[in-house]
Parts: sequence; structure tokens; C-alpha cells
Amino acid sequence: MTSFLLNGQRVQVGAQDAHLSLLQFLRERGLTGTKEGCAEGECGACAVVLLRRDARGLLRYEPVNSCLLLTGSVVDHEVLTVEGVADAGRLHPVQSAMVELGGSQCGYCTPGFVMSLFAEYYRPDRVGYDPEAISGNLCRCTGYRPIRAVAEALGTPDGADPRQRRLQLAPPALGSVSLEGARSFHRPCSLDEVFAMLERRPDIAITSGGSDLVVEMNQRHRRFDAVLSLENVTELRGMAWTADSLRIGASNTLTELEPVIAGKVPILEQMLPLFSSRLVRNRATLGGNLGTASPIGDSPPALLALDASLELVSAAATRRVPLADFFLGYRKTALAPGELIAAVLIPLPLPEVQRFYKVSKRVLDDISTVAAGFSLRRGTDGRVESARLAYGGVAATPVRAHAAEDALVGRPFDDEAEARVRPLLEGAFAPLDDHRGSADYRRAMVVELFSKFRFDTSAQLT
Ligand SMILES: Cc1cc2nc3c(=O)[nH]c(=O)nc-3n(C[C@H](O)[C@H](O)[C@H](O)COP(=O)(O)OP(=O)(O)OC[C@H]3O[C@@H](n4cnc5c(N)ncnc54)[C@H](O)[C@@H]3O)c2cc1C
Ligand code: FES
Ligand code: FES
Repeated sequence: MTSFLLNGQRVQVGAQDAHLSLLQFLRERGLTGTKEGCAEGECGACAVVLLRRDARGLLRYEPVNSCLLLTGSVVDHEVLTVEGVADAGRLHPVQSAMVELGGSQCGYCTPGFVMSLFAEYYRPDRVGYDPEAISGNLCRCTGYRPIRAVAEALGTPDGADPRQRRLQLAPPALGSVSLEGARSFHRPCSLDEVFAMLERRPDIAITSGGSDLVVEMNQRHRRFDAVLSLENVTELRGMAWTADSLRIGASNTLTELEPVIAGKVPILEQMLPLFSSRLVRNRATLGGNLGTASPIGDSPPALLALDASLELVSAAATRRVPLADFFLGYRKTALAPGELIAAVLIPLPLPEVQRFYKVSKRVLDDISTVAAGFSLRRGTDGRVESARLAYGGVAATPVRAHAAEDALVGRPFDDEAEARVRPLLEGAFAPLDDHRGSADYRRAMVVELFSKFRFDTSAQLT
């Protein structure tokens, strides 16, 4: 039976539903509490929660943007919408607090805030107010102070709370999904199933979290005859530290990655909070961020600074490609037909000095104008042994500034080194003008971000 649990009721999903966003699916069934603000992941008015295991294996409620979730993806899941959080006619404590503290005015954003805060209310390790919990929700009229007051006033669920009790039970079991129709949808569990499908339908559209692909469907009206979702493929999930590398599954979400790198990989710790919002990171993957090959993706500069490589798999073979050789041109990668990204491999030991910088119109929940990932390794004499200066937003692909990197090697990282490298960076790239920033602005950022790196690390390096 192809179905999912919606506010405790089982609902069927047919092939005709699978390519609909969950938001459309809900609203067509009369669940209009979930709102459409932007249909591109920017406002959170469409937030719903899924029941999922986190990276430590704990079951939790996870808020996601239903506008970016294909209905086929939620088969076998348990989904709660704003209509489903009250208990026996009594408002949920988060709903009551929104009323009592004046957190709602026109009310358009309110269901999304309620769902994000509902998930936060039950987060197992919550300590105090975490602004991240509502980083993907926008309100245009109330003002954030009363909404923040609601977030600050969240109590603790007691053992009798049925939502809390649900977290002690088994997670939903996600099986393989195959919905054949005029538009087909497939969510396999194993690589064998993936390759069998790719052999049958080599032109099938691939997705993981959908945060790029479903935007294309919603905003550019792209339609696909068939979609293959990699989100639940066992071999593409799992993160592990070994003696010589950190392996990150291509289908792990960025939220799952956060606790794995916390306190261990500073450049990723700096990058992840600047990457969209919690609602998007609950779905977005590294496989998708690299697979989409955007020149302004945030993970490539950070991963280039770490000398990461990719494990690529096809039905015939597995191969390893340095990330530096992966981007071949604008939105063009080294992936051969039928090949997928299986994992990102970060070699150990990590560089001694790492920094990530992102220039964007607003600090959180925005796309980069320019991003930079920098790292240095130094010898016992304090001289630079190797340097990585990687940028996004300044060329058709994410790129490294090789001449500048070479000019740093063999010398101390001091004022003289900075003065020698700045002119090399000035002419390193020929960026484009666009609505996010002019070519001149981007060229200036290439140089100034490097000087910021030097300034920010000078205390660490003396
Ligand atoms: C509101 C919003 C904010 C965003 N903010 C940022 C941001 O701050 N920084 C940033 O970098 N990006 C941002 N993005 C873009 C997007 O979230 C990221 O690129 C994300 O990492 C994509 O991952 P996904 O799994 O959702 O990709 P999907 O949409 O599922 O896939 C994207 C593409 O990658 C390919 N792909 C997916 N997985 C694989 C795989 N395993 N092997 C080969 N190809 C694969 C697919 O062919 C697909 O075309 C934002 C998007 C939204 C909607
Ligand atoms: S409608 Fe705005 S994030 Fe979904
Ligand atoms: S209350 Fe109107 S948008 Fe938030």
C-alpha cells in the first residue's frame, strides 16, 4: 500500500500525486492551514513536520518546507500539519503561547512558525532559545519580538503528552517506493535498485533533498516524466570518521552533518549556519549541492579548502575524483552518464587553519554573492607548507587561486606574504555582473576576504 500517515490518518498516494509538492497535496485535500508564501523555500509559511531519526539515532520532529517536498517522498512517513497538533480540541502549548503573547497578526506566517516551534518544543537536547529553530520562517507584519517571546517561553513536554510518547516508539519504516504513471516516481532503498532504474530510464531526473530540483519545478515549471529520489538509499547515507578521512554520505542532510563535524571541522562549522535555514538544511544534501554544480554553492569552497574528494559510483565501478577536478564548466561536472556521487571524503589530518566567509545581502537565509574557503598547513618552523584559497561566485565554477596559493608556500604568513598575494588575487578571476553584485565588487571581495583571513588568523598564528 502506497500511503503515509497524515495527522494520524492514513492517506493514499497515487502516481498522479507523486510529483505534486506536499503543499499542493495538502491544500487540495482541504488542509489549507498550511500556506504558500513563496513556493521556493524562503518563507516557511508551508512548514510541516516529519518524524525522523537524527544523526544520533534519536527520534525527533523535523520541520520541512512542504513546498519543496514531493508527495512521493513522504510515502511511509508520519506527517503533522498545523491542523494536527491540537490534542482533543485543546490548543497545543505552542499555539496557546502564540495567542497569549501576540505572535500572530494577519496569521499568514503563523502555521509555519507553529510547526517550527512545535518541532523545537520536543527537540531532545533543547537548552533555552535557539534562533535557528525559526531561521526559515518569515513574518511580514507582527514583528519578531512577540514570536521570539513565544520561542523563549517554550515549556517542557511532560511524559503524558502523546506527541512526546510517540518519540519513545519505533520510527516509521521507509520502504522502496515505485509509482508508475504518466509521471513516475521512485524512491529506492539500495544502489542495486537505483542502477536497475537508471538502466531502464537513463533520462530519469535525479534528486536527493529536492531543495534545488523542486524550486525548478515550482518556479520554472519544469516537469519530468520520471523522478528518482536518492534520499533513502542506504549506501548513500552514513557518516564516519576513520583513521585517514571523514566520509559523508551524499544523501545525508546538512542537519545530520552538523553534530558529526561539531568541534572538529571549523570550516564546515562556520559554513553550515550560513547555508539557507534550518527548514532547508533539514532536506538539503552535499550530494545535491555538488551535483547541481552551481558556481555559488556554499559547500564547494569549504570542501576545496579541505582537499576533499568524491566517491563516484556507477553500475560498473566506483572511482575517486578530487573535488578540484569535479567541476568542468558552468553546471558541468565530471559525472559520467549513469554515475552518482556516493560520498564526500575529507582527508585527515585536517589543515591547522581554516576559515569560511560568505558575502550575501543578508547574513542568514541568503545565497552567496561571493564565498571563500581558506586553509593553511604550516611546518614546525612556522612557514606555510601548503595553502588553499578557494572561491565561489567569481567564475563559472567554484575555483582555487593557484598562483596565490603557490606564492604563500615556504614563507611565514605575515604582512609581507599578504602584500605579495593581494595583487595576484586582484587579477585571478573574471567574474560576471549580476543582480547580486558587479564584477568589480566581486573582484574586490576576492582580495579583501583574503586580507580578512590574514587579520582573523594573525592571533592564532603568532
Ligand atoms: C531557500 C533556499 C535557500 C538556499 N540557500 C543556499 C545556500 O545558502 N547555499 C547553497 O549553497 N545553496 C543553497 N540553496 C540551494 C540548495 O539548498 C542546495 O544546493 C542543496 O545542497 C541541494 O541539495 P538537495 O539534496 O536538496 O538537491 P536536489 O534538489 O535534490 O538535487 C540538486 C541536483 O543535484 C543532483 N544530485 C542530487 N544528489 C546527487 C547525487 N548523489 N549524485 C549526483 N547528482 C546528485 C540532482 O541531479 C539535482 O539536479 C538554497 C535553496 C533554497 C530553496
Ligand atoms: S511557501 Fe515559502 S517556504 Fe514554502
Ligand atoms: S502575522 Fe502576518 S506575516 Fe506574520
